[in-house]
Amino acid sequence: MSPSTRRQVIGWGLAGGTMTIVGAAGLWWGSRPQGVPLPPQGPPAADGSTAGDGTGPGTWAQPQVLASADGVLELDLEAAPSTVTIGGRPARVWAFNGSLPGPTLRVAPGDTLRVRMVNRLGEVTNLHVHGLHVSPEGSGDNPFVEIGPGESRDYEFVLPDDHPPGTYWYHPHHHGHVAEQLAAGLYGAIIVQDLDPVTVTRERVLVVSDLTLTADGDLAEPSPRERMMGREGRLVLINGQLQPRLEVAPGERERWRIVNACPSRFLRLTLEGQPMRLLARDLGRLREPVGTSTVDLAPGNRAEILVEATEGTSTLVAAPVDRGAMPGMRGGRRPGGTGPVDLLTLSVSGNQAQPPGDVSLGTAPRDLRGQDIARRRTLDFAMGGMGGGMMRGDGAMMSFTINGREYDAERTDVGVRAGDVEEWTLVNSSPMDHPVHLHVWPMQVIDNSEGAQDEPRWVDVVNVPAFGQVTVRVAFEDFTGRTVFHCHILDHEDLGMMGTVEVT
Ligand code: C2O
Ligand code: CU
Ligand code: CU
Repeated sequence: MSPSTRRQVIGWGLAGGTMTIVGAAGLWWGSRPQGVPLPPQGPPAADGSTAGDGTGPGTWAQPQVLASADGVLELDLEAAPSTVTIGGRPARVWAFNGSLPGPTLRVAPGDTLRVRMVNRLGEVTNLHVHGLHVSPEGSGDNPFVEIGPGESRDYEFVLPDDHPPGTYWYHPHHHGHVAEQLAAGLYGAIIVQDLDPVTVTRERVLVVSDLTLTADGDLAEPSPRERMMGREGRLVLINGQLQPRLEVAPGERERWRIVNACPSRFLRLTLEGQPMRLLARDLGRLREPVGTSTVDLAPGNRAEILVEATEGTSTLVAAPVDRGAMPGMRGGRRPGGTGPVDLLTLSVSGNQAQPPGDVSLGTAPRDLRGQDIARRRTLDFAMGGMGGGMMRGDGAMMSFTINGREYDAERTDVGVRAGDVEEWTLVNSSPMDHPVHLHVWPMQVIDNSEGAQDEPRWVDVVNVPAFGQVTVRVAFEDFTGRTVFHCHILDHEDLGMMGTVEVT
């Protein structure tokens, strides 16, 4: 079966609905399946820009926006246990500055972002600015930093003047605890403004995350099996809310900046009844927005879409995505098998709005095809070591490797000369998809299992399907230093599927 056939939306329906058991404690409540009425909701925000806090189910909210002024944005980010309200009930999570998601950071190309990260968790953490093209060294986007409990650290991220606009995000990156800390609630959006604005009626940030809570509203522990598959939370939230409701007027054009902040869940988004155009994926902007009926986001991916509001009520739905199975697993016990999930209701009514005008063309993205390649490499992402069983004989989990090796922060796996363009063939020799992410330098997808690409396609997370491969090119320009690449199913990363790259 070709990967594209296998990746079609498959109606797992309720067959997979009993897939996971979380400890002995009862689960709280899951996101409602399609067609089940929403609980009562509070009044929607008039301008769609309220701070998200203490709201009941069905209420639209966005995180607080902190914007740079005079080229600088300076803030404290405190990671701490917090009680937030999800679906009208208290939930004890970990959050940045007490809000789920943390504040949205809005900067422009050329700006400096200074963050004092304060660790009030009982374990080591750190901070990563996912997708930003900034130095990985020193107090920059350094994934090797460790901030102990009670400690803090000052980060400084200096964006180049030609930094691509787009939607990025931040989250902790301490190896071994990344999935846990993300699933607990530690994430937030970063917006790098367009110098050439897109004409819209309004803009929204939609941070999609998932988590599982116990009946008491505590974070549930995933089982070893769930970690190996990549944990998928029972509740799928938008900006920390369950199934918010948006009300807009027909004819309005909205720009949605969508972040997949789930540790492992793949999102295949549909919004039936509303014309959608893809404006950007991960970084930069497409030259021209393209009409689409689905938006696919692997963990870590972002998309910006334009929605032209059309009379009626539509639901943003995450369809199940078949992302493969663990070795030895049988059908029906697959991740992504829990059926479609309603994420948001969009209700469009009232007087027809003025047409917002044309969307300007973006700048043509760079194209590394036809460029001299300094070096070609093959990186093989594999899972092994346990045959058909769950655990190895010594009780350790299955191994997750790149070129046969588990992550070692001390070892440099890939050495690159500064300024080189390299071509990497990412091979997946396992029966489960691995969305591969490289820090600092974006990747141009040259070829994936669906064939060669026409338009230059730039991403910072590219899904490598089970038993498939993807070829990318990377221009290792602007910065030197050491950083990482890894599977963005963050449990896989924590279990060893990460490597180091050093540019000198
Ligand atoms: Cu989104 Cu290495 O991370
Ligand atoms: Cu990253
Ligand atoms: Cu993986």
